[in-house]
Amino acid sequence: MAAAMRSRCPGSGALLATLLGPRRGCSSFRASQLEVERSRSPRPKPDPQGLQFGRVFTDHMLSVEWSRAGGWGRPRIRPFQDLRLHPACSALHYAVELFEGMKAFRGADDKIRLFRPELNMQRMERSAQRVCLPPSLGVAPPGQALLFVILCPVGPYFPGGHFSPVGLLADPSHTRAWPGGAGHCKLGGNYGPTIALQRAAQARGCQQVLWLHGPERLLTEVGTMNLFVFWHREDGELELVTPPLDGLILPGVTRQSLLELAREWGEFGVREGPLPMGTVLAALAQGRLREMFGSGTACVVCPVGGILYEEKWYPVPTMEHGPELAQRFLRVLSDIQYGHVPSEWAQPL
Ligand SMILES: Cc1ncc(COP(=O)(O)O)c(C=O)c1O
Repeated sequence: MAAAMRSRCPGSGALLATLLGPRRGCSSFRASQLEVERSRSPRPKPDPQGLQFGRVFTDHMLSVEWSRAGGWGRPRIRPFQDLRLHPACSALHYAVELFEGMKAFRGADDKIRLFRPELNMQRMERSAQRVCLPPSLGVAPPGQALLFVILCPVGPYFPGGHFSPVGLLADPSHTRAWPGGAGHCKLGGNYGPTIALQRAAQARGCQQVLWLHGPERLLTEVGTMNLFVFWHREDGELELVTPPLDGLILPGVTRQSLLELAREWGEFGVREGPLPMGTVLAALAQGRLREMFGSGTACVVCPVGGILYEEKWYPVPTMEHGPELAQRFLRVLSDIQYGHVPSEWAQPL
């Protein structure tokens, strides 16, 4: 499932809006106002075996228009269709847009569950604030905005439950986010510029980019996933570490869930702290690193098999260790998402 907002209005209107003061009109919209127009030409259902992410969409989409003068309009479910945008649309020129992504799971009981959707909505609110889009606003630079929700069916990320580990290209000459920037928001502008390095990673035989930051070459994220390291500290204690929410990384719903689960289990140390490349390579060299994996809605967890850094390949022994922790996280979260284990994190709709 994806949601996005796009604003229409050049910057001069924005300044005027600020000067005019608080907006009038509807500050919210409700499901009871929903208008439904059904598609007259529904397409055949796709083969569930051959689904590719983001290729096939449902026959309908939800959209809600917003304007500074009128606030939110009525929510509408309509046949899936192209958008019409003014060529000066600020989403196209200045990336005044945001998106969110979450999954709906059909459970063993045939009920549909969303996984912690309130966390996605809170993140969406924070992204909206960063680019001055509604619903966060009293005074909004954009004059018009469109909220739309589109859905596409997806198959299992690891078919048959078999993990395939990824290799990472760590190139310190590129950075995804920086202090004071917007790396913690899910804004389109954070993603487009990463595609070239992702292609470079693939050309070097890696599947993902390991994003580094600063002179200490801090490990921040893996592609579009948060990063976890499970190791023995120098004093021998077992510890799970993930980079802190310092503005450089996206606060993942999965990241938060893994941290909460691990803290609840209380079986090993759990820390949100910096991961300098030197410290990670030392742990690898000393055989202390057990597992490294990414986390995200698409895969839940994705094991890392090695890092290409300064022309040298560093194997990471995640698979050699099971990976016990990554597999446990995947099992526990999937059981919740598919309704095998009741949880307030995934209530039937
Ligand atoms: C840059 C980035 N980091 C991490 C994540 C993982 O977040 P989540 O667990 O909410 O899917 C995502 C995906 O949304 C992402 O785009």
